[in-house]
Amino acid sequence: MFDLKLRPRRMRISEEIRSMVRETTLSPKDFVYPIFVVPGENISEEIPSMPGCNHLSVDRAVEVAKEVFSLGIPSIEVFGLPEYKDEIGSSAWDMTSPVQRAITAIKKAVPELVIIGDVCLCQYTSHGHCGKLKDHYVDNDTTLPLLQNVAVSQAEAGADIVAPSDMMDGRVAAIREALDDRGFINVSIMSYAVKYASGYYGPFRDAADSAPQFGDRKQYQMDPANSREAMKEVDLDIAEGADIIMVKPALAYLDIVRRVRERIDYPIAVYNVSGEYAMVKAAAQNGWIDEKRIVLETLTSMKRAGADIIITYHAIDAAKWLARQ
Ligand code: PBG
Ligand code: ZN
Repeated sequence: MFDLKLRPRRMRISEEIRSMVRETTLSPKDFVYPIFVVPGENISEEIPSMPGCNHLSVDRAVEVAKEVFSLGIPSIEVFGLPEYKDEIGSSAWDMTSPVQRAITAIKKAVPELVIIGDVCLCQYTSHGHCGKLKDHYVDNDTTLPLLQNVAVSQAEAGADIVAPSDMMDGRVAAIREALDDRGFINVSIMSYAVKYASGYYGPFRDAADSAPQFGDRKQYQMDPANSREAMKEVDLDIAEGADIIMVKPALAYLDIVRRVRERIDYPIAVYNVSGEYAMVKAAAQNGWIDEKRIVLETLTSMKRAGADIIITYHAIDAAKWLARQ
């Protein structure tokens, strides 16, 4: 027979032993729950391409925020659909827009909940691009003051963190300067530093009505084929003053998360985006996968790759499952 002394299976013999040697654990504290706020009152309408996620009026968003906090999830990220759109996206910094009103109302109702504002223009521009147009080109430098407006308005509304997702060069430095000038020295910046031009954003663009009316976002979001370039984006955003670095999407880019983890000692967030969510939901609804197992396994893989923070539409379900384990 074989002389087998080395038996890794010993460490898998019972759940108790497995739990003692488990390298990665998942907690509701790892999650951020994204919400979509809309104009109106008493609205909670399911988003067709994202089953389980709703368009929420401000009053109903407050209820969801309370539930999120009661489940031990420390943070929400607020996206919004505005009342009006124009060429420069000015409803993005209108203090009466749903996002600003939701931030203020949630801060008042659940002061400890960390509120993240998504800083971009695509939901607010008539053309659906993330910046100001010069002909058919998204102009970098004239977009920066607009992004400063958005970040300051969200800080004024009560946001704890602002998260620029536009991918303009220099926006982290510009936003940091604008926040500091207005005295918001303790409002943090979570930079979507490494954001790829991805097909996985499809359901979100339906949900947020933010699809570009012409062309695509490849002139500002990153090429999915590039990994070294991601390191350049990370280095620049840290130099510009980012507090948290994000990689987005998550699942198809865990090699990037690992590279970033090995490179920097800053907190890393991943965005488990709408397309990743929709695929799991669709397969689960067909009975093809075990939703709970797949979700917890997937979220664990993101932490194992090196993420500290996971922005996920599964947050509420996952927090409930983790509480029952
Ligand atoms: C806006 C923005 C997008 C997402 C977050 N912020 C879409 C995009 O860049 O087109 C995607 C989130 C998701 O798919 O869940 N810039
Ligand atoms: Zn955008």
